[in-house]
Amino acid sequence: METKVLEVHTNDSHDPAIQEAIRLLQAGEVVAIPTETVYGLAANALDADMVRKIFVAKGRPENNPVIVHVATAENAKELVTEWPEVAQKLTDAFWPGPLTLVLKKSKAVPDIVTAGGDTVALRCPAHPVALSIIDAVGYPLAAPSANMSGYISPTTAAHVEKSLSGRIPLILDGGPCDGGIESTVLNLTGSQPEILRPGAIDADMLAKVIGAEVVDVSKAKPATADALLSPGQLDTHYAPRTRLVLAEAADIDGVMARAIESGKRAGVIALNAGDKPADGLQRIALPNDPKAYAKDLYATLHKLDEQNLDVIVCELPPDTPEWAGIRNRLLRAGVPA
Ligand code: TXA
Ligand code: MG
Repeated sequence: METKVLEVHTNDSHDPAIQEAIRLLQAGEVVAIPTETVYGLAANALDADMVRKIFVAKGRPENNPVIVHVATAENAKELVTEWPEVAQKLTDAFWPGPLTLVLKKSKAVPDIVTAGGDTVALRCPAHPVALSIIDAVGYPLAAPSANMSGYISPTTAAHVEKSLSGRIPLILDGGPCDGGIESTVLNLTGSQPEILRPGAIDADMLAKVIGAEVVDVSKAKPATADALLSPGQLDTHYAPRTRLVLAEAADIDGVMARAIESGKRAGVIALNAGDKPADGLQRIALPNDPKAYAKDLYATLHKLDEQNLDVIVCELPPDTPEWAGIRNRLLRAGVPA
């Protein structure tokens, strides 16, 4: 299949690129679209056959449920059997935005979306192109990240092309994503709200709105890929093909020195520029600020992964709530030194 890449110049649904995306979605196809976090691979969430095409294109196992994207909280309510007060508070505070809520699903949601489970993950993306498409088609869009399953998520149209070219008919190019890592996934179906996947909206921000402590359960690894837990919690996820070695700040210099000694061609991602890089070593400094770091992280991993290095060494940012999303992605993508 030929994959077209069309630039989007406006959020107006009459834009020719958006029109083409709408036409393909209405014809039952999947389309890659920009969101504020990462690019998503979208299809009609209410049609099981169309959602199945997402799984096929990504090579995604069917026990991994997908997120459903809506234009408003009102639309979300049509897809659930319960809308707790805490959902109202959170959507008032954070939608549109990078917060996904797991709630009890209604019959409108096909089983393939939820991997057969009785809960559905819902979010309203803060991206004018995504919102204008959902508005125009009139149904919610199922959309996981637009990459082959297990690989680094895409934050540009070129990243999507690298991963899915030939497998999908259209990529809408809306420029680089602002957020850079996937949304926070919060389970609201238990006795208390639990973070299944940390993201830009962190535990402290959620706690302030909810008025109670919010537990991040993403660090406790499940033994199996239970459909009710976020498979984002499973090992190898978000991973480059090159071996990715992680080091706490205190150990990074030692890990680098060992890589150089062993004659390896290494790329280093660190929080500060450090000394002049040694031979065979490429050092990239990412900003010491979670938001700015997140925006650049996947693009940096994509870039280093294209260079056929022996190893990528990455400094882990501090173990604090505001860095939790980034640490989570790095720990899933790499191995400790
Ligand atoms: O920012 C994002 O969330 C991006 C953009 C495209 O919206 N989407 C995304 O989708 O990251 P995906 O499929 O790559 O990740 C969805 C995560 C997975 O960890 C999945 O297991 C979890 O959400 N999830 C989906 N439905 C769930 C459910 N019913 N219960 C628990 N976790 C669920
Ligand atoms: Mg993904």
